[in-house]
Amino acid sequence: MASYLVTGASRGIGLELTKQLLELPVSQVGKVFAVTRSDSSAPLRDLVEKSPDRAVHITASVDDTESVQRAARDVKAKLGTQGLDVLVNNAGQQAFAPGGTKTAPPEQLAHLFDVNVIGPHRVIAAFLPLLETGNQKKVINVYVLVRVWEQHQGQARLILATVPRRWEQFHGPSNISVRPLRPTRYPRPHCTC
Ligand SMILES: NC(=O)c1ccc[n+]([C@@H]2O[C@H](COP(=O)([O-])OP(=O)(O)OC[C@H]3O[C@@H](n4cnc5c(N)ncnc54)[C@H](OP(=O)(O)O)[C@@H]3O)[C@@H](O)[C@H]2O)c1
Repeated sequence: MASYLVTGASRGIGLELTKQLLELPVSQVGKVFAVTRSDSSAPLRDLVEKSPDRAVHITASVDDTESVQRAARDVKAKLGTQGLDVLVNNAGQQAFAPGGTKTAPPEQLAHLFDVNVIGPHRVIAAFLPLLETGNQKKVINVYVLVRVWEQHQGQARLILATVPRRWEQFHGPSNISVRPLRPTRYPRPHCTC
């Protein structure tokens, strides 16, 4: 049985993924660590109450190094001698600046970069020791092309894709597989990527 950690599990894709993982048999999925930045998600609370032996709620903000490192310590304590098998870096934010990059406040860009780009890096770095002792050694980075960077989407994508590539190069011998995943819900006529 594999252990999973999903960030951004309060709602949306992260919540649904957590739900679907918990529906799989214990022979396939053991513990599921659902990470949210606050305690306020009622649907997640319901999931955890329904599967108290497998679902574990952990709080951390992916833009806060200390909270991510604390989350890694909490998960390690729950796993005991086991490692973490699969890390799903799903937490993210999007923002819309009607005037595009010309009017987007730099602070907003910096915040989005911190959450969407540095965030996955923080989480991988904190959980790497646990991933290295896991059996599957998998990371999935659910990523977004930040819309205020509409004119520079290729560039944003390159940055986001570079994070997992560097991790793989650096940690090649430990054989951790890092894959980017970009959900598509909306048609993006202007997207060239
Ligand atoms: N849905 C799409 O069409 C689409 C397309 C491309 C990419 N994506 C990406 O796929 C991922 C999931 O999308 P979604 O549609 O499920 O998004 P969503 O409904 O907006 O959910 C985003 C999740 O990320 C969490 N989050 C945001 N900032 C955080 C932070 N600083 N620390 C920890 N958690 C944080 C949110 O927590 P709170 O509830 O506390 O806000 C929420 O749980 C995101 O990374 C998104 O950018 C989605």
